[in-house]
Amino acid sequence: MVYRCLELALQAPTGFNLQTWRWLVITDPDTRAAIAGIFRRIELPFLEMMERSIPTDDVPAQKVAASSRFLPEHLAEVPVHVIPCSVGGIQENHELFADLGYGTDLTNMAASATYGEIWPAAWSFMLALRSRGLGSSLTMIHLGAEPEVARLLDIPDGVSQAGLIPVAYFRGQDIRAGPRRPLAEVAFQDRWERRPPLLADG
Ligand SMILES: Cc1cc2nc3c(=O)[nH]c(=O)nc-3n(C[C@H](O)[C@H](O)[C@H](O)COP(=O)(O)O)c2cc1C
Repeated sequence: MVYRCLELALQAPTGFNLQTWRWLVITDPDTRAAIAGIFRRIELPFLEMMERSIPTDDVPAQKVAASSRFLPEHLAEVPVHVIPCSVGGIQENHELFADLGYGTDLTNMAASATYGEIWPAAWSFMLALRSRGLGSSLTMIHLGAEPEVARLLDIPDGVSQAGLIPVAYFRGQDIRAGPRRPLAEVAFQDRWERRPPLLADG
């Protein structure tokens, strides 16, 4: 099922249709435990700091913190970890765009191209999983130790990891729309912060 969903995800766009993506699917329990250990090592000190700073009456923030703690504590048990990678990275794209004469300040373009070639496919993968009863979560915290994870998984130099997507069947069906700011607050028309007339009245 995971590979079927990845196959669907490959319909996502990539620049010049280069398809520099690579998908590392990890099922081996010892390897998952090692990845989970790295993930925990990086995430827990940050979480502890975050938890200390959240007021006890800030229920939404408490919920985010609780779910952020759940994942590192259970990551090893999640049966499939998927690491989306791209051959090359920001530096390579920066050099390519400079050679192509695309402009002078290419930092943002290179970053956008690098991860823009991964996240649309990764999100398609996650939606395909979702429609088949599988849950997943988009994370990137392990990149704090990217070289260590690369060594563990034999990922060669010159390949960038974009994140880590744990995949498992979810329990129950009480999945609701995620809490998000209203569209009228985040969508503009014609000029920055100009409200779209159709959304202005809610
Ligand atoms: C690029 C990116 C990286 C993320 N990395 C992490 C992460 O390392 N750990 C984590 O708990 N959530 C991470 N998140 C947030 C979750 O994926 C999730 O979207 C967020 O917790 C909100 O939950 P919801 O989408 O279920 O409402 C990341 C999101 C994005 C877009």
